[in-house]
Amino acid sequence: MQERLNQLQEEFKKDLQGSKTTKELKNLKIKYLGRKSTLTQLFAQIPALPNDQKGLWGKKLNLFKVKINLALENNVKIEDREEESLDLTFPSASCQEGSRHILTTVNEKICSIFERLGFAVIEGSEIEDEWHNFEALNIPLEHPSRDSFDTFYLDLPAKDKGKYLLRSHTSPSQIRIMKKTKPPLAVISPGRVYRPDEVDATHSFMFHQIEGFVVGEAINFAHLKGTLLYFAQEFFSCDVELRFRPHFFPFTEPSAEVDMSCIMCKGKKNKETKCSICKNKGWLEVLGCGMIHPNVLEACGINAKKYQGFAFGMGVERIVMLKYSIDDIRLFYENDIRFLKQFSI
Ligand code: PHE
Repeated sequence: MQERLNQLQEEFKKDLQGSKTTKELKNLKIKYLGRKSTLTQLFAQIPALPNDQKGLWGKKLNLFKVKINLALENNVKIEDREEESLDLTFPSASCQEGSRHILTTVNEKICSIFERLGFAVIEGSEIEDEWHNFEALNIPLEHPSRDSFDTFYLDLPAKDKGKYLLRSHTSPSQIRIMKKTKPPLAVISPGRVYRPDEVDATHSFMFHQIEGFVVGEAINFAHLKGTLLYFAQEFFSCDVELRFRPHFFPFTEPSAEVDMSCIMCKGKKNKETKCSICKNKGWLEVLGCGMIHPNVLEACGINAKKYQGFAFGMGVERIVMLKYSIDDIRLFYENDIRFLKQFSI
């Protein structure tokens, strides 16, 4: 009996080494553990053994059975993995392809239009200090206009620059860049901004802006108008017209709000049907702009007698809402695939 067991063990070793596929290993299991296997026959002989031998042979044969099982299991796992990695035709698990968010796409489109005009894209920082967000932009502490730019403060004093805060507009980028780089400058600076507004269809506590500015010698309002008209016609349509309405911003003088002729009704007021976009006003407000205030240039160490500049700031959400007739700003942030899918390219 011992001899047969030894033979069987040797045979199993050889067979195991020679088996490569899962199927071959399954056959080994039948051969060595099946009902007709030698091992089963050996088990069947136990009752005929003398009583003092029964227990010993029971243990020996069981041990071998456990070894066979373990050896087969371990090999099956390895073989399975090898087979999987070899089958290059096996279909992959289905996955949903992502796409760019409409705000990202439009942001890049706007920047690329200005890049073609020679503007450089430079991002500012979302955490600012009071000096960059207000004072340097000619918004003194007690000035009422500070309210409209009021924002989220961080519980951290910034060295000599008031408190840290989440910037409420991208205009502090002007300051950071003008302090570092000498004119001539033509920069476009996109990014997130924060205001503690109540969230509704047109307001969000976080949204995106794009700041643009040019500083150089003999820069005037005509350059500003020409630049913005080029942008509007490239981005919306070639027959768009712009209207500059006098406005107040502390950091520009003179300042203006820019309206664009309605892209839906083309500014033609139709008495019978109300235009869903401009509500028959004929014009849509798109951005704020102006000539950079001399105080702002001086705060950045730029000689305001020698250099002039213009600046503008637009809300990306607003531009996208106008272009695609979207009536609720919250749609941008809810991650509803049905909404986002419409803009995937
Ligand atoms: N910073 C202004 C705002 O957030 C926009 C602006 C930028 C206006 C530059 C004029 C010049 O409303």
